[in-house]
Amino acid sequence: HKHSPSAIRFGLTGKGNFTGVEGEDVVFGPGDMVLTPNDAWHNHGTVGGEQAVNLSVLDLPLVETLHAVHFDHKYTEMVDGKEVEKKVQTARYPGDYSQRIYGEGGLMPRFVDHKRGGGLSSPMYVYRWEKMEAVLDAHKDWDGDPHEGIVIDYVDPTTGGPVFHTINFYVQMLRPGERTLPQRETASLLLAPFRGNGHSIIDGKRYDWNQFDTIAIPGGSWVEHVNGSSSEPVIFFGATDAPTQKALLLYKRWGRNQAGDLLRLV
Ligand SMILES: [Fe+2]
Repeated sequence: HKHSPSAIRFGLTGKGNFTGVEGEDVVFGPGDMVLTPNDAWHNHGTVGGEQAVNLSVLDLPLVETLHAVHFDHKYTEMVDGKEVEKKVQTARYPGDYSQRIYGEGGLMPRFVDHKRGGGLSSPMYVYRWEKMEAVLDAHKDWDGDPHEGIVIDYVDPTTGGPVFHTINFYVQMLRPGERTLPQRETASLLLAPFRGNGHSIIDGKRYDWNQFDTIAIPGGSWVEHVNGSSSEPVIFFGATDAPTQKALLLYKRWGRNQAGDLLRLV
């Protein structure tokens, strides 16, 4: 099926999560992110007969609010010149297509069509954990941002912007013992601790969290994050509706410095 809401799946446990998207059959494991964008045909399942859990994040509430939801369940392929309805799509790209075409930042093959699916989102449908982990590791000793630590965004390789027009996805690392300075933004955030444990202070209230919890931070809240470990990093998988707010010129962000002064950041 396909639909106007865009979705991602982020692997949590098991190596056999499966998503077929626009003819690319993707098997994915912990930390891998797979897109099923606005108007892209997809089907889900598992391979290998073992349980696999993923976190799904959709812009459905926004698209619903805008009365723009559309679903299409009639998937067809051309067989011998005839249109035939099918339950599962036939793979027409190699399973590692996204990595082979888009997997090297800053380098772009010219000989393929970058308008995949509805042509409305990133044509890179799989972001592997291995690459993200290498980038995090390469920057673990940088100062980072005092309000956010080390944040790496997932981007559409053809634009450098967010993978969807509605949601931006990112990974946030807090180094051992790191505590972020207070920050407040108009965007709403979803944070899923993928590694480590600690607590967040949201509008003055403490919330403790562990691996695989989900933290919802409503827009307008003051937030601080604390890594509870002095030896292990915290890694959050994050989602924000900032792109929608930026498109509507509604996005703002503030912070406080060590002295407690209010700063306008965006
Ligand atoms: Fe779907």
